[in-house]
Amino acid sequence: MEPRKFVAPEFILGEGALDLVGRYAANLAAKKVFLVTDPGVIRAGLAAKVENSLAQAGLPFVVFSDVAPNPKDVEVMAGAELYLREQCDVIVAVGGGSPMDCAKGIGIVVSNGANILLFEGVDRVETPCPPLICIPTTAGSSADISQFAIITDTARKVKIAIISKVLMPDLALVDPLATLSMPAALTAATGLDALVHAIEAYVSNANSPVTDLHALEAIRLVARNLKGAIEHPLDLGFRKPMMLASLLAGLAFSNASLGLVHAMAHSLGGLSNVPHGDCNALLLEYVVAHNFDSVPERYVAIGEAFGLEIAGLPRGEQKGRLVEALRRFRIEAGVSGGLRELGIRKADLPKLAENASKDPCIVTNPVQPTVQEIEMIYERAF
Ligand SMILES: [Fe+2]
Repeated sequence: MEPRKFVAPEFILGEGALDLVGRYAANLAAKKVFLVTDPGVIRAGLAAKVENSLAQAGLPFVVFSDVAPNPKDVEVMAGAELYLREQCDVIVAVGGGSPMDCAKGIGIVVSNGANILLFEGVDRVETPCPPLICIPTTAGSSADISQFAIITDTARKVKIAIISKVLMPDLALVDPLATLSMPAALTAATGLDALVHAIEAYVSNANSPVTDLHALEAIRLVARNLKGAIEHPLDLGFRKPMMLASLLAGLAFSNASLGLVHAMAHSLGGLSNVPHGDCNALLLEYVVAHNFDSVPERYVAIGEAFGLEIAGLPRGEQKGRLVEALRRFRIEAGVSGGLRELGIRKADLPKLAENASKDPCIVTNPVQPTVQEIEMIYERAF
């Protein structure tokens, strides 16, 4: 076995973890906190809970909430300008993947003094960022656990991936109570994102026994709890295992990286601004069908964790049963149709395929597809 590193932030998991933010920001010697969030999180009353905790700890703060779904380079740069003008020294992000990724981008810009787009790729950030506390309000993005930030290049209409150990938050406060207000569509999209994180980490060619453990348990938990979380949004009996699934999937993919589904979803999200989880969910079954024969025993283990009894079946049947189960699962979660319904045009597919082939997530896919093969997968998902 090749030597493999496993990096994880300090995290606190459990109901009420969010309320500890003031105390922990004070522990990080904060003088003025830069709070990154978005309008939806403010409406749900979650930003106010963070503000109360900071106020109770006697910490002044500045709120930055001009963050759209799929955070943009211009938002990162505007946030960084405000951070510097207000002389903040600790960043707190509360929200889904978008505010957390934007906060990471702001951290890079304020300490490295250059445009965010210059840091695209793996290990390109030289100076460490200010201390960062992340509080996820969805069960899926795992930006609170990961060393990834995905930012949209608005001029080129592509998403860039920034992967660096300096992006690992100093602390994640993982509180299932913060997910109770998620509407059904967001619960579905983010939960399916967590499933894809776990599957891609498990078949990644950078997998390890430690990431495998987290990935398989995450798959098991999503398979058994996502539907319940969608149908019974206030039931912690479903929200708690979904939050745990997201955390475990994050630990797996932050270390084993991702694969072709994410490379193709990033390309789609850059062009069309469709929610990341929906892009993933629509592509997953087609990428599994494409990848299956390169690591069949790994996909059989995924199927078994998902609740299918396929271990003793012939290969072709194993593949068919897994692909069909994944398709049924996302449709039952409310993600039906194809790329056409997301507003993608047939004429976009060649460009989408070319962009996906350059995404750093593709490097760890178990088999390297050609640009033509990627275009064919997009066509099947159309
Ligand atoms: Fe994702």
